[in-house]
Amino acid sequence: MFEIKKRDGLARLGTFHTEHGVLNTPTLLPVVNPLKLIIKPEDFKKMGADGLITNAYIILRSARHRKAFEKHGLHTVLNFDGPIMTDSGTFQAHVYGHVDVKPKDIMRFQAKIGSDISTILDLFTEPDTERKEVISMVDETVKRAGEAAKGRKGRAIAAPVQGSIFPDQRARCARAYRDMDLQVHPIGGVVPLMEDYRYVELVDVVMSSVLNLPPERPTHLFGAGHPMVFGLATLMGMDLFDSSAYAKYAIDDRIMFPWGTRHLKELSAFPCSCETCSRYTPKELMQQKPDVRQEALARHNLWTSFQEIKAIHQAIAEGSLWEFVAMRTSCHPDLYAAYRHLLEWSDKMERFEPLSRTSEFVTNLVDVQRPAFVRYRKRLKERVVLKGDWSVVQLKEGSPFDNQQERDRVIFHHPIGFIPDSLDQIYPAGLVHTSGEMSLWRKAVDRSVTIERGDPIEDPDERRVRTVAAYQFGPVIADLVLAGRLSIVTSSKTGRIRTVHADGDHVLSMRNDGFFSLKVAGARRIQAGTEAPTMRVIVNDDSAENNRLGRNVFAQFVIDADPGLGVMEETIVVNCNDEVMAVGRTILTGEELPRFGKGIVVKVRDGIGAPDSKNDHSED
Ligand code: GUN
Ligand code: ZN
Repeated sequence: MFEIKKRDGLARLGTFHTEHGVLNTPTLLPVVNPLKLIIKPEDFKKMGADGLITNAYIILRSARHRKAFEKHGLHTVLNFDGPIMTDSGTFQAHVYGHVDVKPKDIMRFQAKIGSDISTILDLFTEPDTERKEVISMVDETVKRAGEAAKGRKGRAIAAPVQGSIFPDQRARCARAYRDMDLQVHPIGGVVPLMEDYRYVELVDVVMSSVLNLPPERPTHLFGAGHPMVFGLATLMGMDLFDSSAYAKYAIDDRIMFPWGTRHLKELSAFPCSCETCSRYTPKELMQQKPDVRQEALARHNLWTSFQEIKAIHQAIAEGSLWEFVAMRTSCHPDLYAAYRHLLEWSDKMERFEPLSRTSEFVTNLVDVQRPAFVRYRKRLKERVVLKGDWSVVQLKEGSPFDNQQERDRVIFHHPIGFIPDSLDQIYPAGLVHTSGEMSLWRKAVDRSVTIERGDPIEDPDERRVRTVAAYQFGPVIADLVLAGRLSIVTSSKTGRIRTVHADGDHVLSMRNDGFFSLKVAGARRIQAGTEAPTMRVIVNDDSAENNRLGRNVFAQFVIDADPGLGVMEETIVVNCNDEVMAVGRTILTGEELPRFGKGIVVKVRDGIGAPDSKNDHSED
């Protein structure tokens, strides 16, 4: 049902398929009060909504409206033909202390009115609920989720993660859902945290939930309606949001922007060009009748929210979400504290980070703790050994990449860490943009690189090949791939490395981004020298026959994968007999690969060719 197309941090550009169409995630589901429509649901589509969320409990308790919903269904009554999610009454329990409905009955009712995503009646764990009580509330919520999963008929079920502010309880709740037939996982019980700007705690709540949830299902941050938090939440892996804030704020004459909220009275001009803001000045809008003003403000608030969602889509697509979030969170001290706090999770986020991006901006000291840099320093420390004498150069400005000085066995001393000249073309080391004042930051990170005594590799090309291969694949695999007599082909125009041959086998090609793509001959060496599933994605026979012809690997055919594989990493596609079929790059991590049911999960570059074909050792 859920397919990932592109990712950045834990964010995913994905598609979630429902009976009434597709949600393109991340997306915002505007909250529709089923009894009072400020904005016509058909107008939501025009503003950019793929779907809506409404409250089944409110419908159930409305003597006047319930019958119509039962008779005609949600989509007809609300006049909206896209996906509609419903909530269960849990939030009403949080506000009023109790609800008059049984868990089973609210599930049945949601099915009856034709909800595309029905939410279980979870127990709202408040930030100040005692730990002992939280534990039993999580138990009960998980039990209700299990019952709902058993009674599921076709449509999707949302089971929220509860657990208050206890990371271990969040993790336990999330893990319990892994083997249940559930489709969406909201993070629940977070509204009080957001209302009090407790974003630092929100980070721990979301991260301890998301890292334990089944990755193949979309997540949802319940009650996050302010565009200011969308970026940060998306970066932490949130796929869906719901907003009632657009309407609630409008009632109080408050106007939302991605950088904060203003009262209409405080504005001398609208820093926006939506329909509302082009039609009125703030003063003119103040003079409108309350209902006109409210609708106009609600429209602006929604428009701004969808604008932010679009900006986030673009940031994920171009790989700049970290920078986007650093910028957005700097608008509020508590949000910025949350961004800084998220960096303490970098070690756990590292495996989801794409191996390569086209650029990276570092504007602040704390940015050097992002997962991409944490991974860089970790790999440098654990995988790379330099030999012989090296000199350290203090880099005053710019990136090592544009530093054209003498660079024979030089280690640049840079804010992100040490950068040996052999790694100056790869992401992030060679592609990081910083300002001139960065020399002030040099002490900011723990840095280390191993230099051994012994004969250095004199040839810079060979040094680059061996260093990048060790960094990219680890020393053991690099040695397997590069064993034997090495020959390196460079471009006659640019001098850049093109292909690498070991004992005559074309084992690697260098990509434009300075990393290697693995060739079939290199894959065969790894297959022969390691145990499955190292570096492998194991596919069923039907898939194998397609992959050997160069076709991509689809999720549903994956049997197993090396759990250590990261995103955008080179991988070997093998059949069940561990025979090499193809080489390609991962879209998902090794842990995610066997779990997804939909979409391309390995982009195949070279297949070994049809059986008996002469093309067996394909060259490019
Ligand atoms: N709306 C806001 N928070 C929650 C929650 O924790 N659970 C449910 N079901 N709905 C919510
Ligand atoms: Zn506007």
